[in-house]
Amino acid sequence: MTPVSNIAELPQRRTSDRVVRVAAVGDIHCGEEDRGAFRDHLARVNDDADVLVLCGDLTRRGLPAEFRTVVGELADVKTPITAVLGNHDHEAGQAAEGEAILRARGIHVLVGDPFQLNDHVGFVGTKGFMGGFGRAALTSFGEVETKAFVSATLEEVQRLEMGLRRLATPVRVVVLHYAPIAGTVAGEPEVIYPFLGCDRLAEPLDRYDATVVFHGHAHTGAFEGHTAGGVPVYNVSLPVLRKIGLATLYYVHEIPVGASSASPAPSALLQRP
Ligand SMILES: [Fe+2]
Ligand SMILES: [Fe+2]
Repeated sequence: MTPVSNIAELPQRRTSDRVVRVAAVGDIHCGEEDRGAFRDHLARVNDDADVLVLCGDLTRRGLPAEFRTVVGELADVKTPITAVLGNHDHEAGQAAEGEAILRARGIHVLVGDPFQLNDHVGFVGTKGFMGGFGRAALTSFGEVETKAFVSATLEEVQRLEMGLRRLATPVRVVVLHYAPIAGTVAGEPEVIYPFLGCDRLAEPLDRYDATVVFHGHAHTGAFEGHTAGGVPVYNVSLPVLRKIGLATLYYVHEIPVGASSASPAPSALLQRP
């Protein structure tokens, strides 16, 4: 895997029919007062990528007015857009209305159902949930509340698994809000790891040979990691992208089309400011 520090030194790559460019970002946390703050930055995706992926926490509190502001910020984006919601998008208890606002804009909101970009490239996504990692992961034992909590995580895992089973494209891009591995939450305080994701989410990624995974939520986590089975995972939370010095609002990942398990190909668009 190419170290991030070397990305700017990679030779220029020209987009061709054999590469799909995925622009990904999470945690823009757009409030009504942010009208106009992202619009020009997001419009650049038309030149930089073939598809835009939004990894949740699009809004601050999940208010319908905030979702409408997000749609306004995306007004100039002409590429297909796919998204999952984050915990902030659920805060006001109006996530269904928010989702409808995004869908009315033509955004493919992923709740398990796959979105097929073309014959070669498809997307599966869901919000995911928390629960912890490795031997420290919460188990379904004891109080009914504990069992309900773990059950919520397992429902997300099953949603992801069913989506991957249904997706027949050779390139399978997974979109989450919560982290599926501990590797990309590294850098956060260890005491909050269990609230940043759960590695139960990684099991279907390996079983169904996902090509690449994008997630958000871990604002001070690490940019890249991989599952136990070697699937590359990118934490594209906006504060993380800022931390690694991207000049763009999003990370652009190039995926060779036609490979069943494409190796990561960081884009030459990545530059130090
Ligand atoms: Fe966030
Ligand atoms: Fe979040």
